[in-house]
Amino acid sequence: MAASMKYMILYRGCKHTKRWNNMLRNCRTFCMTHRKNKGLVLGVYEPASESEPLVLTPAAQSINSRTGGKLVELLAVAGKKLKAGHTRVLHGVDKEFSSIAVSCIGKQGQGYNELEEIDESRESVRTAVGGGVKVMRDLHELDVSVDPCGHPEAAAEGSNLALFVYDELKDKDKRKPHVWLSCYTDHIRGDAESATEGWRQGTVQAEGQNFARLLMETPANHMTPTIFANRVLEKLGILEDFTINSRDMAWAEHHKMGAFLSVTQGSVEPPLFLEIEYRGAPKDNSLFALVGKGVTFDSGGISLKPGTNMDKMRADMGGAACVVGALLAIGQLKLPINIRGFIPLCENMPSGKATKPGDVVTAMNGKTIQVDNTDAEGRLILADALCYAETFKPSHILDIATLTGAMAVSLGSGVTGVFSNSTPTWDILHKAGARTGDRVWRMPLMKHYSKQVTKSDLADVNNIGTQSREGGSCTAAAFLKEFVTNKNWLHLDIAGVMMNKAEVPYLGKGMSGRPTRTLVEFLRQLSKMNS
Ligand code: BES
Ligand code: MG
Ligand code: ZN
Repeated sequence: MAASMKYMILYRGCKHTKRWNNMLRNCRTFCMTHRKNKGLVLGVYEPASESEPLVLTPAAQSINSRTGGKLVELLAVAGKKLKAGHTRVLHGVDKEFSSIAVSCIGKQGQGYNELEEIDESRESVRTAVGGGVKVMRDLHELDVSVDPCGHPEAAAEGSNLALFVYDELKDKDKRKPHVWLSCYTDHIRGDAESATEGWRQGTVQAEGQNFARLLMETPANHMTPTIFANRVLEKLGILEDFTINSRDMAWAEHHKMGAFLSVTQGSVEPPLFLEIEYRGAPKDNSLFALVGKGVTFDSGGISLKPGTNMDKMRADMGGAACVVGALLAIGQLKLPINIRGFIPLCENMPSGKATKPGDVVTAMNGKTIQVDNTDAEGRLILADALCYAETFKPSHILDIATLTGAMAVSLGSGVTGVFSNSTPTWDILHKAGARTGDRVWRMPLMKHYSKQVTKSDLADVNNIGTQSREGGSCTAAAFLKEFVTNKNWLHLDIAGVMMNKAEVPYLGKGMSGRPTRTLVEFLRQLSKMNS
């Protein structure tokens, strides 16, 4: 503790440690670097042919040469058939490190893969180091340096994402220990600053996604609308450039949000409407609106869902969680852009007060909606949130929601389905997904689908399409379109990517927080175009 205090005083005023949070983090890193046990994760590439040895990264080369070739020697035995994404642990190689995990990145010189629509060089680093740090934790190496492998940002993302666990409700003895991560830079001659900066950015981005995962994974009785709002206030409220308003039911009534209110009315939990303002650019710069579905539990309402997997509907606030996670990262990166996040929060429950199939409600823009299925509730709360967002005259609007099971049927968990009325805006998001590895795929937004939701016996629109389940994601998007006039609108349906089984190796099992990092990258690109 004394050492860390000294460190704090020494570094006060240094340009890299101006922020209090950063200072605390650096103090911890300092303390940990003076602990005895230290682990190292190193990258290696697959050889060009089987008869050749593994190819070392610059960090691995430097460890190899300072140990007189010991690394290569031991790898020749232990790591002979090391394949991409796999790890071998070596002990007694180097004096500084009690264990070294060597993770295979795959072939050297990978780049953008057109068919896969992904930057493979970055993605393979995420996977490799993600595997490495998990092995280190299993070995109880809790102070771990990570080889940046030529992509410090991706290395930080992979390692921070891989270590995420949600175990706070378990007995202390059963929880995973915390691992302190840092970027290995000893091999870099001269300017290590750009690697450190890339590492910092990647860490911030992963922490944004991890926060979204935490919000999603938390059981619904521990993540009510009120608790969600409090978590956001605790996390974002303390950062510069943020103003947060939490609006209550009376506010929603005053704004004539009949669609949003019709969803919450079956629940005893009070709804909330969060408005998060991030000001990273001058006031007169254009405004970007983010709208996130925040159903903290979706039972289906009177159109009750089947029991199997209903527990997963605790993550039906995934859209809201991704908006919050992205804003958390954006605020820490200090992106020069103005954003307003709009988050309607409520539960969808059956009760004597709940909306009944066939009821007609009126949205904020005056359109009447026949609610034929109370389980199609996401589009109802988004309708009002989109109308409200439009009153701020944003240059772009992006909404994100765990909207339709049909999305999981059509695209599975490979990509997020995106509907947009603007090809240039879609293009930016598409490129962002290739870089982050959390990809998107364009879906149709055509009159064909609009016709199916604008046919209603009793009202202007119906909350389900006339063709029952067919094209369910497309009719849901067409429904939302009825509440948008903005010409740069994107709708992201994340129902398919909500959960990870084993598809993304560096995410582990559970709620995914996807595609938080793609949102951050997208907004980074937009901020560049703005300034
Ligand atoms: N939250 C669900 C969609 C969902 C399902 C997300 C599975 C993640 C995994 C949404 O509110 C819903 O229930 N949608 C219905 C719409 C239908 C009634 C038109 C669906 O997909 O079945
Ligand atoms: Mg539903
Ligand atoms: Zn839902």
